[in-house]
Amino acid sequence: MPRAIIKVQNMSKTFISKERKRFLRPEKRKIQALKNINLDIYDGEIFGLLGPNGAGKTTLIKCLTTLLIPTEGTAWVNGFNLQKEENLVRASLGCMLMGERGLYWKLTGRENLEYFGALYHVPKEKRKERITYLADLLNMREFLDRTVETYSSGQKMITAFAKSLVNDAPILFLDEPTVTMDVHAARELRRIVKELNREGHTIIYTTHQMFEADELCQRVAIIDRGEIIALGTPAELKKSLRVQDVINLGGVIPKGVAEKIRAIPGVREAVIKDVKAGMSTLSVMCDNSRKILPKIMEVLLENDVQIEYIKPQDVTLEDVFIAETGRALSVDTSELSKEKKGEAGGKV
Ligand SMILES: Nc1ncnc2c1ncn2[C@@H]1O[C@H](COP(=O)(O)OP(=O)(O)OP(=O)(O)O)[C@@H](O)[C@H]1O
Ligand SMILES: [Mg+2]
Repeated sequence: MPRAIIKVQNMSKTFISKERKRFLRPEKRKIQALKNINLDIYDGEIFGLLGPNGAGKTTLIKCLTTLLIPTEGTAWVNGFNLQKEENLVRASLGCMLMGERGLYWKLTGRENLEYFGALYHVPKEKRKERITYLADLLNMREFLDRTVETYSSGQKMITAFAKSLVNDAPILFLDEPTVTMDVHAARELRRIVKELNREGHTIIYTTHQMFEADELCQRVAIIDRGEIIALGTPAELKKSLRVQDVINLGGVIPKGVAEKIRAIPGVREAVIKDVKAGMSTLSVMCDNSRKILPKIMEVLLENDVQIEYIKPQDVTLEDVFIAETGRALSVDTSELSKEKKGEAGGKV
């Protein structure tokens, strides 16, 4: 059995949020962001946390890095108890949360790293050495001595990444580190993450991007509405689907058509994944695409659907999510964002 470097036990987190509607007193409302999470993360693995907006990924990371106190349950990080040995937990980890917002914009990149290094009790000489090393590793020399406010968003994210590495901790938490990076910078970051992992670091990596998790992570947990709904290696998760075939259809597809396709015997799931400029992608999971395709075509013709393409597809981690939840990953499940949208709708 591999050693669990992080052990999460019955962890729940409930937020009390104040809901304010016009002219009325604020009302308190409970949001259960984590529901009884039990999880082992093994020493030396890259562990992926996947899930739609509002699933609870950041909340879990904040609890494990001592930034939030769980409502129930506990965890051991590097052998130290979250609530009883907070300082030792902190000394065991580096984290990149909120990306660039975790930096001081009026300081230079170097000053930021100096500051956070000191905060993590890295001795002065070691700090200097470490910053020089990171500046080379992450190609930061060109902008390191300018104030952060002058950086491009990619440069800010790289600096935030460097900040998480400044204390050379054994465990690294990265919350959507590539989200504002261009393709090249994101690829470079993933390369470095793999290198750090080879050196022995355990990495917890959250992302919306299925391919990132597939490429990087040895094991993945899919979180939805505060619960872990699937856990395993990417290959295990895809195999668990037991769906031979996934067909993607692109075109102008009304919502009701997905429901009609779902009703065809042998179709496991049919979900509209995304809509761009009126063009939708419909993902259909079935046990035998050859047998079912003519029936799908029949439904499409009956409903006057314009189809641009039909493509068979290998099972992806997103399909695992769709099969488990009947929803696409792009659907926002965040309670607060629902509220925000509701409020915005109410404003003049
Ligand atoms: N401080 C807070 N007060 C009230 N509710 C909160 C707070 N922080 C998070 N939530 C709610 O908890 C749920 C989980 O949020 P969390 O930020 O953990 O999601 P996430 O999986 O990281 O999403 P994303 O992919 O959008 O970053 C959401 O419904 C969110 O609205
Ligand atoms: Mg998040």
